[in-house]
Amino acid sequence: MTENIEISIREKNIIFIGFMGAGKTTVGQLVAKKLSRDFIDIDQEIERIHQMPVSAIFQELGEASFRKMERELIVSLCSETRSKIISLGGGAYMQEEVRKACLANCIVFYIDVSWESWKERIPLIIDSRPILQNKSLAQIEELFNSRKSAYALNHYSISSSDIDAETAADQVVESLKLAWNLNDTKHNLL
Ligand code: S3P
Repeated sequence: MTENIEISIREKNIIFIGFMGAGKTTVGQLVAKKLSRDFIDIDQEIERIHQMPVSAIFQELGEASFRKMERELIVSLCSETRSKIISLGGGAYMQEEVRKACLANCIVFYIDVSWESWKERIPLIIDSRPILQNKSLAQIEELFNSRKSAYALNHYSISSSDIDAETAADQVVESLKLAWNLNDTKHNLL
């Protein structure tokens, strides 16, 4: 069940969602550095906890086991940690429980990328992503499009198609500072 906890806006975890290879980890790490906060990459954390690479988890335990691991980890981080910068695996947000926990307790940034621009990145990521194996380009495009409606459930959206990671991270930090300052002003006026 999703808990709704009272967390001040400055303390909320910042979550990055988006398709594989969109730049969630790169942008998340830069934002963490700029804000002097801890960064957690969910895939790396699962690999550390279970002492297995994600590809081996898919192969040996199956996708359903991996999805359970990511769901449990994300839901617990959402309720038990503060002020973290967290990058989710691209498929995690397809789970309703994950979406609810993130939207209720954290600030969710969608790193959006166009299909045209994403296509160029396929050679860089295909070998390390089990979900892309044995799929035609048309099937990958279908998966890409099928996830858009879930990713659309976010608090902020940043397009990474035409800007570099540093610029995207600056945009994220600017949006956060604006939200934090607006919140402070609102409280001062009360
Ligand atoms: C997946 C994305 C991967 C990883 C796993 C499954 C997906 O993470 O969690 O291979 O279903 O989209 P990245 O989005 O960091 O590549």
